Amino acid sequence: MENLSKEEYGQYAALCECGMRIVLARIENLRQEAEVFSVNRSPFASIQSRIKTYESATNKCLDRGSSCDMKAIRKLHDIAGIRIITLYKDDIYRIRDALVRQPSIEVLEERDYVANPKDNGYRSLHLIISVHVYFCESTKSVPVEVQIRTKAMDLWASVEHNIRYKNDTPSKEAPEMFARIARILEDFDEKAICLRDDTPCN
Ligand code: GTP
Ligand code: MG
Repeated sequence: MENLSKEEYGQYAALCECGMRIVLARIENLRQEAEVFSVNRSPFASIQSRIKTYESATNKCLDRGSSCDMKAIRKLHDIAGIRIITLYKDDIYRIRDALVRQPSIEVLEERDYVANPKDNGYRSLHLIISVHVYFCESTKSVPVEVQIRTKAMDLWASVEHNIRYKNDTPSKEAPEMFARIARILEDFDEKAICLRDDTPCN
């Protein structure tokens, strides 16, 4: 099967970007509501987004052992990716609930690595949502990946990612160290909520 050209990928990525903009606008509205109208603090610490590059998308197809045709590209549900960083762990679910209840957003997949962390210690809530994009004469549904995590979870993931990709020969101790740091940060996320709510913590 023929690999997708850069131009063909660019067209599909642009479609995904349209979907991402819609989701981003809705997230921004939730943030504005929290900051302007709410007496409570905002659940959003920061919002990032990116479109996967052609190189990264084709490498991912190859890693999956498939050729990089349109069918394979459509199976990558993270061409458009949004990352929401929160201060507190319970904000993750508040944001998720506020997002998925909205019309023309459908949850295709949810992976809760907060409730069920990966063995290496990775924590984050992953949603693959499908959003309707309205064009002149057609409506298309495109997937957007939304990762929601606390600052502590993000710190762990950023360092782990950096070391995994920058280091050809990570030390033998690295996995145990990362697992240990993940447990410390998990405890921190729990205690942060107790401190915020002024409730007793174990
Ligand atoms: P991908 O092929 O990467 O999409 O993995 P997947 O389809 O099995 O999905 P998963 O939900 O496990 O991971 C999706 C994304 O989450 C990745 O692209 C990373 O951004 C992030 N992620 C998942 N696991 C880890 C991890 O162990 N460490 C770090 N730093 N990030 C991770
Ligand atoms: Mg994925």
